Amino acid sequence: MIVASSTDYRAAAQRRLPPFLFHYIDGGAYAERTLARNVSDLADIALRQRVLKDMSQLDLSTTLLGERLALPVVLAPVGLTGMYARRGEVQAAQAAARKGVPFTLSTVSVCPIEEVAPALPRPMWFQLYVLRDRGFMRHALERAQAAGVRTLVFTVDMPVPGARYRDLHSGMSGPNAAMRRYWQSLTHPRWAWDVGVRGRPHDLGNVSRYLGKPTGLEDYIGWLGANFDPAISWKDLEWIRAFWKGPMIIKGILDAEDARDAVRFGADGIVVSNHGGRQLDGVLSSARALPDIADAVKGDITVMADSGIRNGLDVVRMIALGADAVMLGRAWVYALAAAGGAGVEHLLELIEKEMRVAMTLTSSRTIADITGDALVRG
Ligand code: FNR
Repeated sequence: MIVASSTDYRAAAQRRLPPFLFHYIDGGAYAERTLARNVSDLADIALRQRVLKDMSQLDLSTTLLGERLALPVVLAPVGLTGMYARRGEVQAAQAAARKGVPFTLSTVSVCPIEEVAPALPRPMWFQLYVLRDRGFMRHALERAQAAGVRTLVFTVDMPVPGARYRDLHSGMSGPNAAMRRYWQSLTHPRWAWDVGVRGRPHDLGNVSRYLGKPTGLEDYIGWLGANFDPAISWKDLEWIRAFWKGPMIIKGILDAEDARDAVRFGADGIVVSNHGGRQLDGVLSSARALPDIADAVKGDITVMADSGIRNGLDVVRMIALGADAVMLGRAWVYALAAAGGAGVEHLLELIEKEMRVAMTLTSSRTIADITGDALVRG
């Protein structure tokens, strides 16, 4: 099969994964309106075509929080990635490093911090959730620091888990026969898992290290589910700001007032995000929320955006709307599930090619050149 876009990788991922895992990745909260609008609002933004300006020399690189990136793109933190491909976090992180962009390890990864960080030629980013168990948070931060992580992504839009109908239908929301069958399939030669060699494919590496025992999907649903903390406020994050010496990015900002609070708090960056439409259905798409937020805080803080980005044109659109760089979520996960690390590398090549076309035809030679002028106003 010829893979020309992330849409093709999505189709390939659907063929390869057990249904409950595919729908876990692909689905969103409630009626999935925000999920759909994340994609359609971006796609509807008209780029402003300009011609005959000698665009032979493009530079797609950028500097983000002191780090050089070949593209203004970071792989977003995605939980359970090691279930979509063997040692999936390592495969994806190495692919990102080969293409010169950072990879963010999720709190709920299969491969632990200590497995992924040493496998990379550049520092990885680490994502932390706010959890009731502050001991886990401190443990994870200390381990991330010891492993050489510089940039911390703090995800704040999960004080409660969003309800996802697809997970309820597919069995992802609780132990059941489909899930048990999947556990068994993990040891099947078709998957060629390194069971017992480099860790179990269904182990939550970071959580296991903390709890001191192997974990699995039941713990993801049970331990993590019981650990979301709706009491969290900016005050609760102060010890983390004091502890973490490197850049700290707050992920899950969708409102200009909250963005200003993030600046006051002393964050180095924000990710304008609705968690890929997986939390509160009905909120604005990131593309619609971004311009007001960028107006409010641009220059005071690094502004990133995610949710709905499926190709390089979308990357250019988000930057034109005010982002300094973007995070890719499902786009890289589909590619990983379909074709492993080679798929992620190829996906990043596709994004680069698509960005080159969009930059050439909007007369944007550098990332800094991509401004509101690259869009048709009104
Ligand atoms: C996520 N996301 C996420 N975010 C986070 O901070 N920690 C996590 O563990 C996860 N896990 C996760 C799993 C899956 C399967 C998906 C699809 C997403 C959210 C992710 O980082 C990002 O914000 C969205 O994926 C962006 O939206 P798009 O690009 O997928 O539309």
